[in-house]
Amino acid sequence: MPDKTKVGILISGRGSNMVSLLQGMRDGTIHGEPALVFSNVPDAPGLAKAAELGVPTEALSHKGLKPRSKHEERVIEILHRYDVELVCLAGYMRLLSPLLVGEFRNRIFNIHPALLPAFPGLHVQQQAIDYGVKISGCTVHVVDEECDHGPIIVQAAVPVLDDDTDETLSARILKEEHRVYSEAVALYCAGRLKIEGRRVRITEPIAR
Ligand code: GRF
Repeated sequence: MPDKTKVGILISGRGSNMVSLLQGMRDGTIHGEPALVFSNVPDAPGLAKAAELGVPTEALSHKGLKPRSKHEERVIEILHRYDVELVCLAGYMRLLSPLLVGEFRNRIFNIHPALLPAFPGLHVQQQAIDYGVKISGCTVHVVDEECDHGPIIVQAAVPVLDDDTDETLSARILKEEHRVYSEAVALYCAGRLKIEGRRVRITEPIAR
């Protein structure tokens, strides 16, 4: 069995996707080790949850650190200090600059609560309702230099119901987010993801 992948999770808020990834690593469905949870919001509720689960945490506000790369230089230093191999953005409300993307090329994943390339950006569950789509969902993708744009790893669809509100649709999507984000990270940690241009191929498990 190869070594566990050291995973760093970046959050800005409540961290429910983070908790789901940490649980997957704890119960062995993800062959990874939680190396660090980092936040750009020092009082993000997710940090306390990570600490409760015994995971090292670090925080560094981006406020006053301009340009963006100045904050990221410090973030990169922290990620290396904890030997992070895979970076998982989980409600990390910062656009990444080419500096961080290049430092961890193809090793930064993000979860987005819509079926990309539809509805990139923010408040996308409400946008899906307002547009009148009948199906929405979530996307786990590799992060590149453009916002919500990199190669797609896994997606899941959910129905949009006539009486949905932002809250009800978000909750339905969130359930799927937890499932597919764990699936994508588990595949990475098992060495089963092959990125070929925009396509991400899931390879067969290695026979033992
Ligand atoms: C999720 O909906 C995720 O898709 C989006 O931000 C939200 C974070 O939620 N990027 P949580 O902090 O993981 O609970």
